[in-house]
Amino acid sequence: MAPSAAIDRTRASVARVYDCFLGGKDNYDVDREVFEQVNRAAPQMSRLARDHREWLVRVTRFLTRSAGIDQFLDCGAGLPTAENTHQVAQRMNPEARVVYVDNDPVVAAHGRALLEENDQSHLVMADLTEPDQVLEHPVVTKFLDFDRPLALIQCSTIHHVPDAQRPREIMERYIERLPAGSYLALTHFYDPQDGGDASELARFVEGIFSNSSMGSGFFRTRSEIASFFGDLELVEPGITRLRDWWPDGPHLNPPTAVDEVLIGGVARKR
Ligand SMILES: C[S@@+](CC[C@H](N)C(=O)[O-])C[C@H]1O[C@@H](n2cnc3c(N)ncnc32)[C@H](O)[C@@H]1O
Repeated sequence: MAPSAAIDRTRASVARVYDCFLGGKDNYDVDREVFEQVNRAAPQMSRLARDHREWLVRVTRFLTRSAGIDQFLDCGAGLPTAENTHQVAQRMNPEARVVYVDNDPVVAAHGRALLEENDQSHLVMADLTEPDQVLEHPVVTKFLDFDRPLALIQCSTIHHVPDAQRPREIMERYIERLPAGSYLALTHFYDPQDGGDASELARFVEGIFSNSSMGSGFFRTRSEIASFFGDLELVEPGITRLRDWWPDGPHLNPPTAVDEVLIGGVARKR
């Protein structure tokens, strides 16, 4: 969806509903209604949202410290939360640059306020389903150097792109334009389609999200999600449950259905 400057309080927005799951305050009744429908049936989905943010923190640490990446294009920034990409990256490397992309006017307002003091981090209002427009945006080309490796982050974004918009082709285009040595970090709602509890949960949540005024939240198969990485080389351990991607310590509890419905990975362009 193209960015709009006006806040629509009559329709739930992806960014604000996600903010509800994270326990944030930047949401309206219409967003909380969508959240409550899921939360009543599957209260653990809020934990999954927090696990998701922790995954992004671990990935950003890995990319900055181990992979030596110092420039990030974070598509679908979301509302500012406890640990944002630029804060994690700049803690490891104060010179790291982050350009966020979003199309939600509430994200624009809060994001600009958060980034005002930081000339290494910027927010662009653009439609992430238009890779050429994003990559040619003057702020992107000013602050990111496409002659050096960078990290493209697509966390919980592509599952808001319907099949009709050809998400695979969108990702192909991004990957094609990434400099050699760049990384892609991507997470996506997952339906194992095995008739088990996780699949039932995936179908239930997809039904609520896509029939609400928010209109999207598609749970795809593992091979569909793997296809979004194109021919990039997956970093170990590949595409996994978020909790299994280099956790900070041993798991104290076995995974539940909720842990199964969001998977992600990091991959490198040769
Ligand atoms: C579920 S949130 C994820 C936020 C963050 N990436 C994270 O993982 O915590 C998805 C974000 O993508 C943004 N978004 C969805 N579709 C978009 C589009 N077509 N163009 C730009 N941003 C979009 C939403 O506004 C929202 O902020």
